[in-house]
Amino acid sequence: MKAVAVTPSKREVGIIEHPTPELQRDDEVKIRTIDVGICGTDREICTFVYGDPPSGCDYLVLGHEAMGEVVEVGSEVEGLKVGDFVVPSVRRPCSDPNCQACRAGLQDFCSTGNYVERGIKECHGFMTESFVERERYLTYVPSDLRDLAVLMEPLTIAEKGLAQAWATQSRLPWVKHYEDGIPTGQGLNAVILGAGPIGILGAMTMKAAGFETYVYNRSPAPNPKAEIIEAIGARYISSKDVPFPELPAEIGSIDLVYEAIGISSVSFDVLSILGVNGVYIFTGIPAPGDPIPIDANQLMRNVVLGNQAVIGTVNADEASFRAAIRDLGYFKDHWPEAIGAVISKRSPIDSCRELLLDHATGIKNVISFD
Ligand code: BGC
Ligand code: ZN
Repeated sequence: MKAVAVTPSKREVGIIEHPTPELQRDDEVKIRTIDVGICGTDREICTFVYGDPPSGCDYLVLGHEAMGEVVEVGSEVEGLKVGDFVVPSVRRPCSDPNCQACRAGLQDFCSTGNYVERGIKECHGFMTESFVERERYLTYVPSDLRDLAVLMEPLTIAEKGLAQAWATQSRLPWVKHYEDGIPTGQGLNAVILGAGPIGILGAMTMKAAGFETYVYNRSPAPNPKAEIIEAIGARYISSKDVPFPELPAEIGSIDLVYEAIGISSVSFDVLSILGVNGVYIFTGIPAPGDPIPIDANQLMRNVVLGNQAVIGTVNADEASFRAAIRDLGYFKDHWPEAIGAVISKRSPIDSCRELLLDHATGIKNVISFD
């Protein structure tokens, strides 16, 4: 069958022939691929600075943001049946008996570094006509979310980020809670840094969680991303209009920053204006580069005197996938056009090289196998 792969030793990117996978274990599920999203990580793997093929293979099948339909189930599969739509997670645990994270099913916190990631690190991904996965790594998608479910995996980044922020802010007993005990961002300001797919989905997540939500991005409005942000009732602010030192005066104290830009200089600029008791969540993975100057004395003073928490987060546990299903439904109910507009284009597999190698256009580009 056809697959999209990188072959680092030959510096090649494109469509290859890849064996059709079959069930090997009773808890496995075979999935017909429907949609696979392309993200910055894929594009970076295509420049050969990130990503590794499985051992013994010279290529890596790309794709970690997938949605598909179950076509076959093993005899021990309990919760899924043929015809169901599913989204796979990305990371698989290491085998070290002493890795408490992986042994607890929290491989997103793997402590050995020997985890693998489908489509990224030492394990083939989902940019193929079909794939096989264990049931435990699949999340069921209600059929009314079929057309949006390719956004689930990038959305789980925001869900896990928010969960980390709330875990941290449980130190502040005055943070408000809904009646069901879930904390709310009501009365708190969240700044999303960047307006790519991760930033937009982050903004929707923070808005849905009750925050006053601001998206801080370079391009001046109007532009399509700003339109989506305004449509959900958040505010889009261009750094061309408001330089970062003026942001707190413009919006008030910044209680939460969700970094979704991957550019360290801008990210540290905005860290320097985080409010007292605030939380800063890093999600970007910048490529290695020259050191950048930062005012470390000022930063350290702020972090200590302001009880600030700086957290990195990488994807994602089962709870984040469940939260993403819930929130995707919320986004669809409240902002159907805005969430629909995040998927800018669905293209056939033959367009993979343009989408992966050319200058990025649109918001979320998707390869559709349907
Ligand atoms: C993926 C994550 C993954 C990370 C690091 C991101 O693009 O969405 O699932 O853990 O890259 O490889
Ligand atoms: Zn991604």
